[in-house]
Formats: sequence, structure tokens, C-alpha cells
Amino acid sequence: MAFQIPRGTQDILPGEAEKWQYIEKIARDICERYNYHEIRTPIFEHTELFLRGVGDTTDIVQKEMYTFEDKGGRSLTLRPEGTAPVVRSFVEHKMYGNPNQPVKLYYIGPMFRYERPQAGRFRQFVQFGVEALGSSDPAMDAEVIALAMELYQTLGLKQLKLVINSLGDAESRKAHRQALIDHFRGRIHELCEDCQVRLEKNPLRILDCKKDRDHELMATAPSILDYLNEESHQYFEKVKSYLTKLGIPFEVDARLVRGLDYYNHTTFEIMSDAEGFGAITTLCGGGRYNGLVQEIGGPETPGIGFALSIERLLAALEAEGITLPVREGIDCYVVAVGERAKEESVLLVNQLRKAGIVADKDYQDRKVKAQLKAADRLNAKLVAILGDDELAKNVINIKEMSTGEQTEVPLPSLIDFLKERLS
Ligand code: HAM
Repeated sequence: MAFQIPRGTQDILPGEAEKWQYIEKIARDICERYNYHEIRTPIFEHTELFLRGVGDTTDIVQKEMYTFEDKGGRSLTLRPEGTAPVVRSFVEHKMYGNPNQPVKLYYIGPMFRYERPQAGRFRQFVQFGVEALGSSDPAMDAEVIALAMELYQTLGLKQLKLVINSLGDAESRKAHRQALIDHFRGRIHELCEDCQVRLEKNPLRILDCKKDRDHELMATAPSILDYLNEESHQYFEKVKSYLTKLGIPFEVDARLVRGLDYYNHTTFEIMSDAEGFGAITTLCGGGRYNGLVQEIGGPETPGIGFALSIERLLAALEAEGITLPVREGIDCYVVAVGERAKEESVLLVNQLRKAGIVADKDYQDRKVKAQLKAADRLNAKLVAILGDDELAKNVINIKEMSTGEQTEVPLPSLIDFLKERLS
């Protein structure tokens, strides 16, 4: 029986994996410049963390978690997102006591959600995310958004749309919550069963319902922006003015409530505007979560962050026709002609690699012609042809593959010669 990969997952094969490495490297470089440090947390956590952190009325917790019992009878869950685990670690390691505040962290790793797979939606996907904990300065919100935008722009994406909103503080949300209940209560039976439960438990979630999205009650629902108290309003104004100062265009959409419960104040998403990009256009989502650290057992600490998946980023690059500058060939292929040369080529290729040259040789005992073909297939810039005669004279033949030009080079100066040709 032949096995197939589980639905909603993918193998990243050679050729494709280089693109991932390239993106990850750019993300790490940007984080370094913004002074964010990497954190690596486990792939699974106690289920309770997500019930508390992400919220038990969210789709993620209700429908999408990979939860299992281990042999010790504990309920564990493959992480569906990175924020709750990072906050758990922040509290567990008392990072709130670090002399350097805010604590600025980033992560790159797989997340798991049991969703219906489609273009841009996987059951295992890789998120790059950042979390800045310990600051309630609106400039922090702008920094986090700027970091996400910088990644996309560095990679060459142009057709981007940043949408922001504010969910306000606890007081503003309470007033809005009541307005939502009043708005929906009389006609809640027209909405789906989930929404009927949401009305009591968490009416904000109704606005995020995928089934009832087009119901007229949605369009007329009270806008959170009309319920922001003065402090929340001022906060949002500050965030917007910082974005403007940084030259980052944005749109405000009062319906951007996000699918996780921990948000307050700023929420944002970055979408692709590219033609032909699938139905799911959100590339990145994030926001402020000032109550989450406390919810998870730590002292009151503000936080803000975002996450974006590499899968959707790659899809956006493809939609905009952008190819990443990843290495597509090797520097030098060593062709050996004759028995002694074959033995010497083992050492030679090793010396080239140690000198920083991307080099390879034949391991299939191929004839010279077939070795040259292999060099061509590997897209080698240079071919070093080592024959027994050349060995006797202590020289080697270098062929430039693009021009066919051949040069005889003394073996002791080979590395310098190759480096010069490759530079
Ligand atoms: P989220 O909106 O659930 O937020 O996910 C963030 C991003 O992860 C999405 O915009 C998308 O790029 C990617 N993503 C989510 N689900 C899938 C999927 N099934 N397949 C492919 N990509 C997917 C969070 O996860 C929050 N933790 C973000 C955050 C960090 N908020 C504050 N800090």
C-alpha cells in the first residue's frame, strides 16, 4: 500500500524549501534590526491554555483544535496559534521582571488547525509572528504593524492593503456588547445556531460568523467605533497618527473583530489586493491583547503582536509574479578523468567546500561525457576537469559553462582562480 500525506498538509520539497529559507532569513534579519528576539515554545501545550487564552467561544477552540490525551491521561493540544504559548512562557519565566522592557519576541513554526482545506488554508501551516509585551504606548502598535509591512515590502509585494480597527478597552467593549445584544436579540432566531449561543456568551463573535456574514443584521450592527470611550478613542487616534508619520497607508474597518477572544484596542489585518489571489485574502492578522497575560496567570501586562503564514505569503508572491532570488545552481562541478584523478577529486571537492565554494562531483561512476551532462543539469557555473595527465603536470582545466571558455590553472592557485571567477 502506498501512503499519502494527510489532508491539509504539504511536503516542502527541494527547490521550494529554498524559498522558505529565504523568507525566514529575511524575517529574522528584520526582527534583529527591530530588536526582537526569537522564542521557541513546544508544538503542544495543555489544552486548557487555549481554552483560556484563545477563548472557548471561538471557532478555533470549538471546532479546529487537534486535541488528544497522552498516555498519562493529560489533555494536550497541538498549538493552533502562537500567542497563548508565548504568553504562557512569558509568565512561566517571569519575563515581566526582565530589566529590559518591553520584551520583544518572535517565532517561526508550525501551527495546527482542523479547518476545511482550500487554497491558502492548511491544517498544518507555518506562522511567523511577533509579540511585544510590557508596553501600552501606541507607538508600539505602529512598530509591530511596520515590521509586518516591512517583511512584505522587502520581498517585493506591492498590492497590499492594511486594515485597522479598535475594539477599545473593557469599558468600551461592555457598552458595545450591550448594544450588540439589543440589536440582535429580537431576531436572533434568523441567525445560525452558533450565533444563538454567541448572543449570550460573546456577541462580538456574531460579527465574525462565516455562515451569517451576508445577513442584513450584520450590515446594520452597531459599530464598536461609536462606543469607544475617550481614552480608547484617543489611543486609536494616536496609533493612526503614528502610522501616517511612518508613511504606512491604512483603511479603518469597524467590522474587523478578529477570530480570537484576547483582543482589545488595536486590531489589524494585511490583505493581498492582487488580482487572481484566492478567496482568502488575509495575509496577516494581529492586535493588542492587554488582558491576556493576567488571564494566563501573570501580572497585568499589555501586549501586542501579529502572525502571518509563510504559505499565504508565498501565494501572494506568486499572484504578483515575484520570483525570489534563491540559488539555482552550484559554483563548481569537479569532473574526473581516469582512476587517479577520481581519487584526487574526493580531496579536491572537499577543499573547495571548505573554501566556501558550492561544489559537487560524480558518485555514479559516470563517463566524462555523462559527468559534464550532470554538471549542466546542476546548473554549475564552472566545471573543473581533472585528468591523470593534468595531475602529473599539477594543473587543472576550468571550463566556464556560460561561454565554453577553458583555462588551464596551476592546482595551487585553483581556489583563488575560482573565487575570482565566481565573484
Ligand atoms: P490568526 O488571524 O488566527 O491570528 O492567524 C494569523 C495568520 O495566520 C493569518 O492571517 C494567516 O496568514 C495565517 N493562517 C491562519 N490560519 C491558517 C491556515 N489554516 N492556513 C494557512 N495560514 C493560516 C493568530 O494566529 C494570532 N495569534 C495573531 C496574533 C499574534 N495576534 C497577536 N499576536
